[in-house]
Amino acid sequence: MSYNLLKGKKGIIFGALNEDSLAWKIAEKSYEEGATFTLTNTLSAIRFGTIDKLAKKCNTIVIPTDATKTNEIEELFKKSMIFLDGKIDFILHSIGMSLNVRKKKNYADLNYNFFQKTLDISALSFHKVLQTAKKLDAINEWGSVLALSYIAAQRTLHAYNDMADAKSLLESIARSFGYIYGREKKIRINTISQSPTKTTAGGGVKGINALMDFTERMSPLGNATSEECANYCVTLFSDLTRKVTMQNLFHDGGFSNMGMSYNAMKQYNKSLNCD
Ligand SMILES: NC(=O)c1ccc[n+]([C@@H]2O[C@H](COP(=O)([O-])OP(=O)(O)OC[C@H]3O[C@@H](n4cnc5c(N)ncnc54)[C@H](O)[C@@H]3O)[C@@H](O)[C@H]2O)c1
Repeated sequence: MSYNLLKGKKGIIFGALNEDSLAWKIAEKSYEEGATFTLTNTLSAIRFGTIDKLAKKCNTIVIPTDATKTNEIEELFKKSMIFLDGKIDFILHSIGMSLNVRKKKNYADLNYNFFQKTLDISALSFHKVLQTAKKLDAINEWGSVLALSYIAAQRTLHAYNDMADAKSLLESIARSFGYIYGREKKIRINTISQSPTKTTAGGGVKGINALMDFTERMSPLGNATSEECANYCVTLFSDLTRKVTMQNLFHDGGFSNMGMSYNAMKQYNKSLNCD
């Protein structure tokens, strides 16, 4: 069911690789709610993935951009504003990658070139998008910018590796830039901390099945799905949440405030052979 929450809104959506991507679901939902937007990803992700199919479905174009390169981000904004015939109302940053995770490097034995890439791709790119937008004055007043984060920014989760540091930085950038952009242009900036979800990036996290089972048992409402994440994002792009800014918003079925649940204890007891 559509509520037309984003009728007339124009956006840019980073990070749809394939149908599993969180950004894919968020694009579909935004389109359903009446938004127009451009899609973007790296050239290699566009070739490797299926973003063209999404573009067709959402009646839009794909503009290749490496989100670590400010000149490419500038081009993206300029082309998007031409295609959309006006300034931007919402942006989704749904980008994450760690070569240390991919190459199975241990956190106590990191490759520092990889580490810098992790921070650049997964966190600094958010600052680059915001700084470029501000310099071009590309976002309308009361616009909304969202990035996707994970609870490893606050709590240590086995094997999340240098992505935990990237997420901490990402959330900090949302606060620091949120202050400046809010004060000067009434633009809001938030991060959504999503439950673990089976996607290409999510699948790269060591032990994702065990992790998802654990968080499902621990969360009173269960894990949040990617469709539910899309619904939440739409409310934050909409005018119904105009005074929400500089926040990290947990979208995790309650997991972040749990210590131990009945369902998790039951499972634990099985392995201890007691009631
Ligand atoms: N899947 C999960 O469990 C989960 C949970 C919480 C948060 N997140 C976050 O959600 C976001 C989206 O991840 P996803 O799970 O949908 O996986 P995904 O693999 O579908 O998306 C990651 C995207 O980042 C893009 N990307 C990588 N390098 C880039 C660059 N230099 N420039 C532009 N784009 C680049 C990839 O091409 C890909 O589209 C990430 O920030 C991820 O950390 C995921």
